[in-house]
Amino acid sequence: MTDSGSPSTADAAPVLRCEGLVRRFGERTAVDDISFSIAPGETYGLLGPNGAGKTTAISIIAGVLAADSGSVVVAGHPMRTDAGRARGAIGLVPQELALYPDLTIQENLRFFGRLQRMPRRHLARRIDEVLEVVGLADRAKDRVDVCSGGMKRRANIAVGLLHEPRLLILDEPTVGVDPQSRHQILASVEALGGAGLAVLYTTHYMEEAERLCDRLGIIDAGRIVAEGTRRELVERIGEHDRVVVTAAGPTAEFAAAAGELPGVHAARPVDGGLEVLADSAAALLAPLVTTGEHLGVTIAGIEVVEPDLEAVFLHLTGRALRD
Ligand SMILES: Nc1ncnc2c1ncn2[C@@H]1O[C@H](COP(=O)(O)OP(=O)(O)OP(=O)(O)O)[C@@H](O)[C@H]1O
Ligand SMILES: [Mg+2]
Repeated sequence: MTDSGSPSTADAAPVLRCEGLVRRFGERTAVDDISFSIAPGETYGLLGPNGAGKTTAISIIAGVLAADSGSVVVAGHPMRTDAGRARGAIGLVPQELALYPDLTIQENLRFFGRLQRMPRRHLARRIDEVLEVVGLADRAKDRVDVCSGGMKRRANIAVGLLHEPRLLILDEPTVGVDPQSRHQILASVEALGGAGLAVLYTTHYMEEAERLCDRLGIIDAGRIVAEGTRRELVERIGEHDRVVVTAAGPTAEFAAAAGELPGVHAARPVDGGLEVLADSAAALLAPLVTTGEHLGVTIAGIEVVEPDLEAVFLHLTGRALRD
């Protein structure tokens, strides 16, 4: 993560510029007029729930799926007219793993490097470097089929980095990985951003987006519904108070009823209670307690907390990021 307000980031020509991307599958518009740019050294997050259109958007950006309309320019190369160079500037780490299970990690890297016609000596050095970046230097000789899911993900990231791309695209790289690999992946992405790489990171984990991303596009139903730094996005909640209620009993019904109270913007059940966005926490307390009692809910605590990106998503869409 770099200081997104720094002149070096703000003034540099973007590594990625995409404009007006649209992709339909039959009746469904999976990507609906998406535009954004990423500067060198900037980590841009697409944060959105399952089916929001993240993979479709990055498949278009990476040149592996055609758009119905819109344009993508990578490192100055338009994908439409100069796809070879545009693709060459991208390292794509797809959501699905793409490795040969009966080869070692090192053999996989060698295979993919040769596929990209990297000179042997340069490739050997580069393999050592990328294994270092993803923390797999000591596992190079392990066969992929005996690796943990997290190690495979990291090996996949190493493949994406081999040819020294200008833009690294990671599609939900921490889904289903062990905590140690998750930590390693996040640390690698931070280091790569710090070293000047532009990173496009998709996730539905709010904590990852908050930690890694200089700027975020919140994506829902194919559209970027809000974009900005974490701070800018949270400020969009404006005057609303975020209230976390610790409660036991029928909390789903409680959330539905709370959503109907005057001054309540949105309410949703969470683990151990519910979360409410309201005009005023003070004005909410009495009606909330009465509603809870009426439904047989036991309220153990009510707390006003700092809004986060989850609250931003709730505010913008009326729904939870993770249902
Ligand atoms: N090849 C396809 N054919 C038909 N529909 C598709 C195809 N690919 C994606 N879709 C639909 O487009 C929408 C967006 O899908 P996409 O995979 O881009 O979402 P996503 O944000 O990546 O979700 P997830 O978090 O589950 O990976 C979904 O409704 C999906 O069902
Ligand atoms: Mg996806």
